[in-house]
Amino acid sequence: MTGDFQHLLSQRTQSMQRNQIREILKVVSQPGMVSLAGGIPAPETFPIEELYKINEAVLDRYGAAALQYDRTEGFAPFLEALAGYLAGKGIDAAADELLVFNGSQSVLDTLGKVLLSPGDCIALESPSYLGALSAFGAYQPSYISIASDAEGIVPEALATALEQHAIKFIYLVTTFQNPTGRTMSRERRQQIADIVKRMNALVIEDDPYSDLRYRGEAVPALQTFAPDNTVYVSTLSKIFAPGLRLGFCLAPGLIRDWLYTAKQGADLHSNTYAQALATEYICGDYIARQIPKIIALYAPRQAAMLGAMDAHIPAGYRWIKPEGGMFIWIEGPPGVDGEALYWRAVEQKVAFVPGKYFYINPADGLSTMRLNFTRVDEGTIEAAIATLGQVIRENSHD
Ligand SMILES: Cc1ncc(COP(=O)(O)O)c(C=O)c1O
Repeated sequence: MTGDFQHLLSQRTQSMQRNQIREILKVVSQPGMVSLAGGIPAPETFPIEELYKINEAVLDRYGAAALQYDRTEGFAPFLEALAGYLAGKGIDAAADELLVFNGSQSVLDTLGKVLLSPGDCIALESPSYLGALSAFGAYQPSYISIASDAEGIVPEALATALEQHAIKFIYLVTTFQNPTGRTMSRERRQQIADIVKRMNALVIEDDPYSDLRYRGEAVPALQTFAPDNTVYVSTLSKIFAPGLRLGFCLAPGLIRDWLYTAKQGADLHSNTYAQALATEYICGDYIARQIPKIIALYAPRQAAMLGAMDAHIPAGYRWIKPEGGMFIWIEGPPGVDGEALYWRAVEQKVAFVPGKYFYINPADGLSTMRLNFTRVDEGTIEAAIATLGQVIRENSHD
């Protein structure tokens, strides 16, 4: 048959999966829908006014260099700026140890390319960031879920998994995790670091959210407890602008070298102009003013959601109260079907993400839901949670 090129697809392509959530979230764009489903920043957090000045400074300072082909590892002034930004988080990184990518998503994909052969095993917390599963999925891995509790993955479970399986790496979102909002405690980080050092294992620490802290004390990155065993991945997507696609990583030497080689083949380098804008954003101290503004917008939204949940979500449902990030995770009592609730809530013009999609084995998360609070104002959040509470109560009478 003409135009039927199915047989041309590679084995790898045939194992790739389309994002299933996208299908069920199609309704979210219907008029009047209040979406607690997304995971994206509020557009009010983008520093548009400041960008007029940043733009001019970039053209004055870097001129044509900001528009030219550049080195694969990243725009040199940006790498310096990132090293300074990381030092502020207690992470010791030299500019020449960093690599810039098109968003942290591209770091995850490139790590998959460099580290995974078909069938290789990745250890994950359960539930996990779905985008990481799509990035790694292209390289045909297998997965093993490591049991987690309120403090993060359980050290004994990790040690046993590392003893029993040849695990290529452990993928963790350590602070304000997507989807649960959970943060691994300092003690737990130390314990996990001790295990990975003892067993010569590799951790990928994905950290897009740690700057979005509304309460409590910052916890140092897991990377700082086990620098030789960790690839630290982060991004400017949540604290500057995701459309600029600026992610980066700090990796042990050998892995960094291969990531460099893979990136060179994939795209030569990331967008020079975007990196120059970000350099000025960081070095011109815009970032120091902008992060508090973002927090001032999100913190009351989160408080409004948590307050409304206390008032409206029935007994038997549980949630933690994260000290930052973008998400609240709800676990319903056994027997609750989060996706059925989703469709009922959508009829009432409220959308969220049924949590089962974040699990390797969806049956483990049938009663769970992920709610985002960053894009909707407090009043709308309160009304949406009241509606969700009503939907839950009506559904439990069925
Ligand atoms: C845990 C996690 N990692 C990576 C990303 C991707 O971010 P980026 O825009 O840097 O590709 C996200 C985005 O939501 C995320 O939640």
